[in-house]
Amino acid sequence: MEVLNYRNLGLVNTREMFKQAMQEGYAVPAYNFNNMEQLQGIIMGCAESGSPVILQVSGSARKYADPTFLPHLVTGAVKMAEALGVHIPIALHLDHGNSFELAKSCIDSGFSSVMLDGSHHPFEENAALTRQVVEYAHEHDVTVEGELGVLAGVEDEVSHEVSHYTRPEEVEEFVEKTGVDSLAISIGTSHGAHKFKVKPGEEVPPLRFDILEEIERRVPGFPIVLHGASSVEPEYVKMINAFGGKMEDAVGIPEDQLRRAAGSAVCKINIDSDGRLAMTAVIRKVFAENPAEFDPRKYLGPARDELIKMVKYKNEHVLGSAGKA
Ligand code: G3H
Ligand code: 13P
Ligand code: ZN
Repeated sequence: MEVLNYRNLGLVNTREMFKQAMQEGYAVPAYNFNNMEQLQGIIMGCAESGSPVILQVSGSARKYADPTFLPHLVTGAVKMAEALGVHIPIALHLDHGNSFELAKSCIDSGFSSVMLDGSHHPFEENAALTRQVVEYAHEHDVTVEGELGVLAGVEDEVSHEVSHYTRPEEVEEFVEKTGVDSLAISIGTSHGAHKFKVKPGEEVPPLRFDILEEIERRVPGFPIVLHGASSVEPEYVKMINAFGGKMEDAVGIPEDQLRRAAGSAVCKINIDSDGRLAMTAVIRKVFAENPAEFDPRKYLGPARDELIKMVKYKNEHVLGSAGKA
């Protein structure tokens, strides 16, 4: 595969992004994508709201888009932002990387940031694997995210029934041993659209801000990452169900909890499910109302428009990243 350097693609690593986010009390959005419409929706939403952005790709998403094709798709997005006349910092990040080989392959093909998710391994194994990735990544000035603690839900083909909160007492040692640039923690979020089992009218359990505060106390000023942070907007779930879908008991993280997290040491907030829901809701509506439609532009276009709207709303009203580019 062609060797590419992220700087030549117009990308940046996450170091400066996180420094500014920490100083000014907001979180940089990390939106997952798999295809052109998602990527355009994210870039346009961030360009129009003047927000820095982390474009995030899981191992399976990279396979889906094609590893050779992907960096060129991203170059297109960078050029599109430039053509809109805005200069926003853009990072390309591997989400939930599960091996040194995958992380290396991403670094060699234009990624500016990678995650090594060794959270399901014992501490020492996780630290050793993460350290190996950090050594290679830092030689190329690529930033690395590690993870301590396990989130419930699906993490790139690895499914966890139950979560294990991050143990704050392990954080200092992990950061020191590995040299990571940021750390994903588990404080009650989970992946996917079904984050909690709650009865109608019942509140979802609050995030464990006490654990986050203890981590902040132990590693002051160190960038923290929140995975599984979609809000699972009820309007989209209603729309999906109204137009032939079947999504029961879909529940996400309340926005006020995310606003509070964004104001803390949390510098990166991961959003995948919300983008999927927004696009699916619109596509279902178009098909239900126009059963004879078969032009992809007629359903992917409105879906992309909805994603732009959603991204702008999140940046402006939840993460606080709008106008920070
Ligand atoms: O955390 C996982 C992300 O939502 C990516 O999911 O493996 O289905 O692309 P994926
Ligand atoms: P959501 O499923 O809540 O969108 O989380 C996405 C995520 O953490 C990607 O790494
Ligand atoms: Zn995740």
